[in-house]
Order: sequence, then structure tokens, then C-alpha cells
Amino acid sequence: MPHPYVLLSAAVSLDGHLDDTGPDRLLLSSPADFDRVDEVRAASDAILIGAGTLRADNPRLLVNAPERRAARVAAGRPAYPLKVTVSGSGDLDPDARFWHTGGAKVLYTTDRGAERARALGLAADVVPLGPGLNWRALLTHLRAAYGVERLMVEGGGHVHTQLLQEGLADELQLVVAPLLVGQSQAPRLFGPGGYQSGRLRLLETRRIEDVVLARYEPTAPGAGPLPAAADHHWLRLACDLAALCPPSTTAFSVGAVVVADDGTELARGHSREDGDPAAHAEEAALAKLDPADPRLPGATVYSSLEPCAHRASRPRPCARLILDAGVRRVVTAWREPDTFVADADGTGLLTARGVEVLVLPEHAAHARRPNAHLGA
Ligand SMILES: NC(=O)c1ccc[n+]([C@@H]2O[C@H](COP(=O)([O-])OP(=O)(O)OC[C@H]3O[C@@H](n4cnc5c(N)ncnc54)[C@H](OP(=O)(O)O)[C@@H]3O)[C@@H](O)[C@H]2O)c1
Ligand SMILES: [Zn+2]
Repeated sequence: MPHPYVLLSAAVSLDGHLDDTGPDRLLLSSPADFDRVDEVRAASDAILIGAGTLRADNPRLLVNAPERRAARVAAGRPAYPLKVTVSGSGDLDPDARFWHTGGAKVLYTTDRGAERARALGLAADVVPLGPGLNWRALLTHLRAAYGVERLMVEGGGHVHTQLLQEGLADELQLVVAPLLVGQSQAPRLFGPGGYQSGRLRLLETRRIEDVVLARYEPTAPGAGPLPAAADHHWLRLACDLAALCPPSTTAFSVGAVVVADDGTELARGHSREDGDPAAHAEEAALAKLDPADPRLPGATVYSSLEPCAHRASRPRPCARLILDAGVRRVVTAWREPDTFVADADGTGLLTARGVEVLVLPEHAAHARRPNAHLGA
């Protein structure tokens, strides 16, 4: 059964703690990082916390920026992500802010916990998962019953530990704060136990004021095709490359990266590269590769804009170049608007020939940015 994409998000001290033992929540992040978290929330369908965090922090878990809520509504989504909590006991405070702010809420619990929660009259759906709590059942239910495709998990340590140990996390976004807690009883991000995550793959590091964001992807030994977190990483790079294009009023600015199935970057390109006013990004990237390269059939082309299906400037459009290169997978952020050509259906051309085309619309704003002057 399909699960949502699961993103674990946490801030830790230099000695690996999520909080101190005092009654108030320890502020680990910086203001700019709280804003980044707000953005990640806005891009999520649901936000999950454990009952321990609900009791300790009494959080609201909202999307705070009105423009982010407006963008969600404009895209046909609820203003706030679904709020999800997990409790075995059902021992929850019905007056906590969690229940009385934001949009819809759901509690996943045990059969006994559900009895208790119902007696409390919580303002939420209550979903019992049996005598114990099963994370796979929870994720399957979130996807099937609420349509959650992207789940952000905001702690605490018990929840993060189980999801990582059970191999259910797709991405970890960790913020390291420059302070030390120094209390052995303070909660830790990850507890003891068996981890199958192997050596995590580092996707990105970013300095945000005085904290460092590190994004990791758990890599199961012998992992097969590129997993979802890597798709976001490479597509983000393609969107960054689009910003390098010399400006044009007659063509889009696009970036592209070709990546082998083991995660090796094979080539990259962007529109109008090297002074060629007609160059397209995918074309420029593929031109750097030997057409006989044995890694091409397993490779993925990441392109900020859907590959073109028609073009006046060259005989073969990019969708055709991709097919001819033998590439079987394309990931893109944005379907081509009919600014320059009508019926710009590169996706249709590719999928009709069995190429998988994945659109990750959460990157569309990034892909559009260098094209804002085109009004597309
Ligand atoms: N720095 C950060 O980024 C960050 C983020 C979040 C939280 N925190 C901190 O983390 C601390 C809380 O973390 P925590 O680890 O104590 O709590 P937690 O992970 O938020 O929640 C643990 C609780 O969730 C329920 N639960 C989780 N897995 C379950 C399972 N398999 N079966 C049944 N119930 C399950 C249980 O609730 P019941 O007890 O109701 O059965 C359990 O006590 C707080 O100090 C908070 O400030 C920090
Ligand atoms: Zn093209």
C-alpha cells in the first residue's frame, strides 16, 4: 500500500538533545529557520507530532505566513495542513492548542486509547489501529483516508526514532544549533535500538543565521532506483541552474541535470549556454554525454521545465532527444505553459513511449522565478 513521503524535521543541540529538562521549551532554532520550517509546513499535506511533544510543548503547528496559506488555498488545498498526533494511552489534554487552532486534526491511537480519547471529547478524528500502534498501518491510512502525500514529522524523539528504525523515513532535515544542553535526562533526537538506515546520504547543507541545516536521506543497503528525496535534491539543482541562463524575452530559462541510477551526476546544462542563443537545457546536458554511455538507460533527466515537444530552432525537440538517448525517467517541476508554442505536451510524447514523467509541483515556484518577466 502506498505511503506518504515522510520528512523528519528536528532541531538539536551540539550534544544531540531536542530540549532541556526545564518546564519551558528550549529554543534551538533561529528566527530565519522558523520561517524555513513554516515553508516546509506549507508544502506538506500533514504535520505529525507524538503525544509527548503535544504535552511538553503545547504547540499550534500552523502555517504562520498568510501568503503561504493563500497560496495553498489558491492551489485548491486547505489553508492549513492536517494535524496528526499519536498516542498509545489516549491521555491527552482536550484544551491543548493543538485541537483548537488550524484546520482538521486526527489522532492515531490504540483501541484502549480511543476509548479514553472519545470520553475526552477531543475535537478530532480518532482512529484506533488495534491493540498496539503500527506505523505502517498509520501511514497507509493517512494516504488512503486523507490523501496525504507529503508528511512532515516534527518530533519528538520517540516518534523520530521509530520511523527511522522501521525504515519509514524518506528524508531527515536536521538543524544543529550552537549550544550545549549538558543534561543526561534531556530528550534525545534518536534513542538506542537497531537502525537499518545505513550511512545516511547527505543531500544538502545550508547555513541559516547561526544554525546549520543538514538534509539527509536514509539509504537502505542495496537501495534500488533513486528514491524520492534524491529527486527533490536534483530537481532543486536543475531549478538553480535555470537562474544561470542569459535573460531572454523569446524563450524560457531552464536548467537540467542528468543523473545515473546510483546517484552520480552525469551532466548538467541550462538554456542559451555558452553563447548559443538556441540551446535548450536538456539538449545542452545530453550533448555532453557519449550517446553510447551505458548509464543512460538507467538515468533520470531532471529539468526545471517539462521537456519541449515542438521547437522552431532545431529539428529535434528535447523530448525526442531524451527518447533517442534511451533515458526512461524524467522529473520536472513545471508543465510548459503555451507562451511560445500551443499544445506543448512533452510529457505526453514521453509517456506515450513508456518514459516515466514525474512532476514535483512543490518546485514550480522555484522553476518559474527566472521566467517571471515572461508572465507565464
Ligand atoms: N527540537 C525539536 O525539534 C523538537 C521537536 C519536537 C519535540 N521536541 C521535544 O521532544 C520532547 C518530547 O519528545 P518525546 O520523545 O518525549 O515524545 P514524542 O515522540 O513526541 O511522543 C511520544 C509519545 O507518542 C506516543 N507514541 C509514540 N510512538 C508510539 C507507539 N509506537 N505506540 C504507542 N504510542 C506511541 C506515546 O504517547 P502516550 O504516552 O500518550 O501513549 C508516547 O509517549 C519534548 O521535550 C519536546 O520539547 C523537540
Ligand atoms: Zn527543449
